[in-house]
Amino acid sequence: MGLEILSGDAYSEASRPPMERIREALSDLPAYDLARLPEKWERAGSAVTIKLGPSLFQYGERIGKAYAEALGAGSVLADVSGVSGEFRLPDMRLLYGEGGESVKTENGIRYSYDVTKVMFASGNLEERRRMERLDCAGETVVDMFCGIGYFTLPIARFAGARCVLACEKNPDSYRFLLENIKLNGVEGTVIPMLGDNRAIPGAHFADRILMGYVQTTSEFLPKARELAKPGCIIHYHDTFPVGVQDERVRRIFSEVFGEDGYEVLGIREVKSFAPSVSHYVADVRVRRSARFRPSRRS
Ligand SMILES: C[S@@+](CC[C@H](N)C(=O)[O-])C[C@H]1O[C@@H](n2cnc3c(N)ncnc32)[C@H](O)[C@@H]1O
Repeated sequence: MGLEILSGDAYSEASRPPMERIREALSDLPAYDLARLPEKWERAGSAVTIKLGPSLFQYGERIGKAYAEALGAGSVLADVSGVSGEFRLPDMRLLYGEGGESVKTENGIRYSYDVTKVMFASGNLEERRRMERLDCAGETVVDMFCGIGYFTLPIARFAGARCVLACEKNPDSYRFLLENIKLNGVEGTVIPMLGDNRAIPGAHFADRILMGYVQTTSEFLPKARELAKPGCIIHYHDTFPVGVQDERVRRIFSEVFGEDGYEVLGIREVKSFAPSVSHYVADVRVRRSARFRPSRRS
């Protein structure tokens, strides 16, 4: 047929698809379990996390070793039940390797964290990118739920903010925030604060406020109103049934700012959260005419 047979690197052991090598290493597992090996994983630097069905935990260490070798990872962890609670704590089981501490590089930002102690929402990637493209020249930004610096770091590094006040309540996340501020050379821009954001001192000084938290976010809106300057932009995250997000955002903001006290600039879907429910972010400008009266709730 006029074709030539070539052989070379394309057929080397290292270039074989990882799943092929993982299945081979575990080929003595019962067919039922072999068919349930996860084909997706998440990387956090040298740590890899996978989701395992209940029948697979009995082979935990062997599975961890097979994934570590095929993916060149230092440790492999099983994500048991996602994140939960006020601090969004992960539930991870170490299958193989030293532990979950690692450095993940994304969009030129280095995030040091421990996957067993703090969350990292890979689904919020586009929102982290959007934050770094904002024009925050000369602004004072408040990140009310900064975690390890998910949004604080892109804004401080790339968006030109004058200063970012980054507040985090979980001491484990705060420790990584401090490390990440140094790793990314933004010591001159980020002011870290350990504690509850409702204790942030001062009033009407923020040009921009990030509210990267979902489900109980509206409880913190009176505090955001207290921090906001007239004209401030609030990036408000929350979950809503798909289709009602516009109405729900307006209802929540009207209650705190009054019907004429704000302007919705846009609402975008960050990711799917549950069947027919999505995580949204609303960009809302506080009107200069908003009445900055003491809140009923704060
Ligand atoms: C969901 S995480 C941040 C998610 C992040 N925006 C992302 O893109 O992945 C929210 C963080 O807010 C912190 N937090 C919760 N309540 C808080 C409060 N009242 N004050 C300060 N931080 C708080 C949690 O500990 C957690 O680290």
